[in-house]
Amino acid sequence: MKKLIVYSKESGNTHKVCSYVSGNSDTDLKVVGKTTKYDLPYYDVIILASGVYMNHVHANILTWINSIEKNTIDSNTKFYLFLTWFGRGNSDKSAFDEVKQLLKAKGIELEDNYMKCFGKGMGMIRISHPNEEDCKNVLLWTNKL
Ligand SMILES: Cc1cc2nc3c(=O)[nH]c(=O)nc-3n(C[C@H](O)[C@H](O)[C@H](O)COP(=O)(O)O)c2cc1C
Repeated sequence: MKKLIVYSKESGNTHKVCSYVSGNSDTDLKVVGKTTKYDLPYYDVIILASGVYMNHVHANILTWINSIEKNTIDSNTKFYLFLTWFGRGNSDKSAFDEVKQLLKAKGIELEDNYMKCFGKGMGMIRISHPNEEDCKNVLLWTNKL
């Protein structure tokens, strides 16, 4: 089972959790930048990973999804979403819905069981996260996919 995590930047909370998961499992990592286009070998599982920013995922993830040519992804590949966030309202759901719609337009189904964990930021909010327990929970989720 080949698994890959695609995430948006090489620093921050999402990076921390994704690095832990990759370091403790057989999961590859790919960081996408501002202009990265879809160019991957076959994976059984692709996890898109991002912080939540005002109800959206990171712009680099959106750019990367937009670069996928319609109906070119092997239908055996399953796509999932992992989010880090403060826990503000339904912003996780908004981010999920956005990614779901974008992928759908490319002929790709986003699996509904997305994963999330808290991530610190803006001074005092969720200052202890992501902690080791968060990382372990995301690893467990990844291992079950
Ligand atoms: C500009 C900005 C906007 C954010 N908007 C939200 C939000 O809408 N909902 C939420 O729960 N967290 C929000 N957060 C918190 C981030 O999602 C959280 O800190 C996340 O872990 C950041 O991921 P990163 O460190 O990988 O960039 C926001 C943070 C920033 C800096």
